[in-house]
Amino acid sequence: MSLIIKGAQLVDHCGVAPLDIYIENGTVLATGYDIDPSPEDDVVDARGLVVLPGMVDIHTHLSLEVGKYTSSDDFNTGSAGAIAGGTTTVVDYITPVRGENVKEAIDRWFKKAAESRVDYSFHLTLTDASDETFRGIETAAEMGIRGFKVFMAYPDRLMISDDDIMRIMKKVKSVGGVLFVHTEDGVEIEKLRNEAEQAGNTGMKWHAASRPSYQEHNAAKRLYEMVKNTFCPTVIVHISAGEVVDVLREASLSGVPLFGETCPHYLWLNESMLERPWPESATYVCSPPLRTSEHMSTLWDALIFGDIDLVSTDHCPFSFENRTENGENFTKVPNGLSGIESRFMLMQNGAISSGRFGWTRLVRLLSTNPAIIAGLYPKKGTIRPGSDADLVFFDPSSVTNLESDNMFTSPDANPYDGMSLLGAVAAVISRGEVVYDNGILTAEPGRGEFVPRKRIDMSRLWTVKMEDHPWAFCQ
Ligand code: URP
Ligand code: ZN
Ligand code: ZN
Repeated sequence: MSLIIKGAQLVDHCGVAPLDIYIENGTVLATGYDIDPSPEDDVVDARGLVVLPGMVDIHTHLSLEVGKYTSSDDFNTGSAGAIAGGTTTVVDYITPVRGENVKEAIDRWFKKAAESRVDYSFHLTLTDASDETFRGIETAAEMGIRGFKVFMAYPDRLMISDDDIMRIMKKVKSVGGVLFVHTEDGVEIEKLRNEAEQAGNTGMKWHAASRPSYQEHNAAKRLYEMVKNTFCPTVIVHISAGEVVDVLREASLSGVPLFGETCPHYLWLNESMLERPWPESATYVCSPPLRTSEHMSTLWDALIFGDIDLVSTDHCPFSFENRTENGENFTKVPNGLSGIESRFMLMQNGAISSGRFGWTRLVRLLSTNPAIIAGLYPKKGTIRPGSDADLVFFDPSSVTNLESDNMFTSPDANPYDGMSLLGAVAAVISRGEVVYDNGILTAEPGRGEFVPRKRIDMSRLWTVKMEDHPWAFCQ
């Protein structure tokens, strides 16, 4: 089975060129100028379109149980939205419920993911630093799960002390893994949250007020010291505070393997949305919280200058009913926003249509860097011989309307409802097969395959930072 994509502008993490793509058995065999088809080749005429590597979203929470609630997209609806939005690989967080054995949690997540339409992999959330958890890290690594997450927040449920995080870092490093850290200061938040509640300040704006940016910054500084000590590859996830960028820059200049992820909602939405009338305000509750437009500008600049390495969604919507059933009290609203279906289009508009940065940077932030950091590169995250033929076709002459009722993901907690964006995802190919074409989704539930993760390649990771030397990156 061979297929030739002809006439598009090809964008990879190294550049933009009018190259054709030759695909055989789901894999890219070659790229080249004006490739001659033979009679048995299928040919796709992609003139007028931009073709990019399939986007890779390494931060999702599909069917995540939080207390009595479950996030409102499962692997079926979440992966449908992913494809329609140009994402061909997702990495979801396995999150054991307290007391659950790690192996049982992994098995449970494999069952959930059996209905995925896109290729998928997992990270494992660690909820304590027990011997059992350390054995769990080994078990996970043997199964190709090499990303682990710990929390510096939520003292009642998930927080792990700095000493224990450092023990975990050593273990994660020894299995060739990477650690993802929810970097907020749980003790400070608890104090401010109790003060707000006691004063009767329970409206949604107090969610942001009780998680100020300085506590996120302080947690990031503590984490930096831990990474300096252990040299475990570590990613600060869902960065919302501009000050954290200073920590990342220092790490990068000092050769300390600390990387940074932000999310579209911290770039597109600001904290004033939490002051909208109840219950609309409940749509905007996520942690860390939305912040001011100054923080948003700092984060955009950090993407331009290469201080932040990737943009993921933290896709974690909860139904309107779940968000509002306990009344206007920010401590009772399940946290998380939708984004898996809108990430690429939002970032395309924020980057290219707005003139902030170009296509190759966009591809690095949404596809190549996430694939490298998650140990999926070069199978995913690039268009080169040997890679999976996962491709997104972007039509610059079209328009995207992010209307919840017309999207594949659940309409819950979609903060972009009604937004109109320039351009559209025209088609998506996954492992050489057309899975989305002009609004028609053809990938069936269960089509997605598990992608086991390799040991993290530290030298490849550093190339993420070599923005000024792309030729070194592109070897
Ligand atoms: O509000 C958020 N981010 N919910 C998802 C869980 C997490 O901390 O990533
Ligand atoms: Zn988190
Ligand atoms: Zn998350």
